[in-house]
Amino acid sequence: MIFSKITATGAYVPDMVITNDDMSKIVDTNDEWITSRSGIKRRHFSNGENTSDIAARTAEKIIQNSGIEPLDIDIIIVASVSSDYTTPSTACIVQSKIGAKNAVAFDIGAACSGFIFGLSVADKYIKTGVYKNAIVIGAEVLSKYLDFGDRGTCVLFGDGAGGVLIEATDEKTGILAEELGSDGDKGMALTGGFSPASNAFNKFNSNADRNLRMDGRAIFDFATRSVPKSVKKLLDDCNFNYEEVDFVIPHQANKRIVEIISRKLKIPMNKFYMNMDEYGNTSSASIPIALNEMVEKGIIKKGDVGVITGFGAGLTWGSMLVKI
Ligand code: COA
Repeated sequence: MIFSKITATGAYVPDMVITNDDMSKIVDTNDEWITSRSGIKRRHFSNGENTSDIAARTAEKIIQNSGIEPLDIDIIIVASVSSDYTTPSTACIVQSKIGAKNAVAFDIGAACSGFIFGLSVADKYIKTGVYKNAIVIGAEVLSKYLDFGDRGTCVLFGDGAGGVLIEATDEKTGILAEELGSDGDKGMALTGGFSPASNAFNKFNSNADRNLRMDGRAIFDFATRSVPKSVKKLLDDCNFNYEEVDFVIPHQANKRIVEIISRKLKIPMNKFYMNMDEYGNTSSASIPIALNEMVEKGIIKKGDVGVITGFGAGLTWGSMLVKI
């Protein structure tokens, strides 16, 4: 059987750091509220770089950290809800920027679950023998979609990108199992970039709204219910012993959500990696940024087995059991 092994990681985060105190100068908030409600202290905002720029920088880092040449890349998948353009896709722009002329390139839109969904698609191409390798990136410049008058939302998000290279192997490693799901019925709890069906003959349309809009309480409830259920199903379906989970990388939305997930799963907090204090919620980028950071800091060792789990707009969720 063919498996998809994670052979390199990479990340790129804009260097403009905005603290909670900086936020409190433009919106009615304060460090104490943001920290106690979310665990977020800082976020990085773009200083002009768009999503394709930070995605391409990430791809370059992944290539540097691997033995692969751009011309040998089979697929590039970018997960994003903040693309530069509706078309071309961010993945096609990345392909051009890094000179990966032989790659198939396309985007996936599954918001904060986007990286997991993208990895799932890439994994299937590899497991079915269609392609030998794939670069999967989560990249977001969410700051361009924030309403800086909406204090319940704008303080939570940040910009950044992260990704991995996966390659075909006969060894039982890499992506071992997955559990994904969607609940479109609850989709209006978190929306962004609404574009009405307006044209020269239709005068009865509603207004466009590019900003992120969120019912924070509904999302909090959804995350604390769906993620433990998803991880439980993931591990139970493959009879994996919870005590053998070396690490968990949750989507970096909110420290309080992570604490509840830990409690419900009875997996201790010290196995959960968190860096939302530095980056805020970077949507599809949060899991690969954290994974790259753990690899760079030597927190994850070869052979470790862990869970990566995301949730967000759609509504969507997805968990994977991965061996490094
Ligand atoms: N600074 C200060 N006060 C704020 C504030 C801010 N940035 N944002 C909201 N408040 C106020 C509210 O206006 C409200 O005031 P009121 O009681 O006078 O009306 C009060 O704080 C409590 O607001 P509430 O929305 O009930 O707070 P909460 O405890 O539910 O926390 C969130 C709000 C958004 C932090 C929380 O619901 C959450 O984390 N939800 C999940 C969001 C998420 O992770 N989204 C991304 C998913 S991918």
